[in-house]
Amino acid sequence: MNNRVYAHRGMSALAPENTLAAIKLCKKYNIDWFECDIDVIADGTVILTHDSTLDRCTNRSGGYYDLTQADLAGIDAGAWFSEDFQGEPLPTLSQVVQWMNSYQLNANIEIKSCEAGKAMALKLLDGLQQALTALEPEREVIISSFNHLFLAELKKRCPQLAVACLYESYDCLDDALTVLEWVGAEYIHLSQQGLTRETVARFNDAGYKVAVYTVNSPMQANELFNWGVFGVFSDIPHLLAAQYRKV
Ligand code: G3P
Ligand code: CA
Repeated sequence: MNNRVYAHRGMSALAPENTLAAIKLCKKYNIDWFECDIDVIADGTVILTHDSTLDRCTNRSGGYYDLTQADLAGIDAGAWFSEDFQGEPLPTLSQVVQWMNSYQLNANIEIKSCEAGKAMALKLLDGLQQALTALEPEREVIISSFNHLFLAELKKRCPQLAVACLYESYDCLDDALTVLEWVGAEYIHLSQQGLTRETVARFNDAGYKVAVYTVNSPMQANELFNWGVFGVFSDIPHLLAAQYRKV
């Protein structure tokens, strides 16, 4: 279906981003697809996190690459957002996969750049593959990343996985069609800032689905869909979905 609206980092305007609470709310608001960010900790457990430190979204500070799963129990990933979410755990990808199965949700999982070097990056890909083995066949996932090398390696390992190349800026799109083909991607995910109808058409004409981040205006979402955009990532997907369903 076109006009897909992804709950960006879960329902991140209503609950702390990248937590089970934010993902759980998707069900309440009839949003079938959410986006989340992943990285890896020392024992190979894949966790949900947007940042490369714990500072912004937890009660702890510093990096997480030396943590193990046992350490996660002491981390509060909800209190920074509001006291209603105090005690919200920092989730593992395996826990998220269980939620996807139980609540019939689909996910765009974004691999963050794993700043801890090659060995940890390989652990991240191993952990991702391992976590996805528990996903029920009815569920859908798209794996995205700004790091196209990670995607190429993943696609080599699991050709059946749908992948999306993320781009941050329009300065580096010249060779994007070559990169998409090399990776074996089905999707390209672009920033809303500076996007033109012509750019959308260029990728659509070459057979790629385009999704755009981060769109928090129903009017702009409608315009993008009219340009041929396949999906948008939004912090307020419930408000966008209400609007586009009328069109
Ligand atoms: O996947 C789209 C979007 O989430 C990429 O940007 O910084 O929110 O992870 P960011
Ligand atoms: Ca993201």
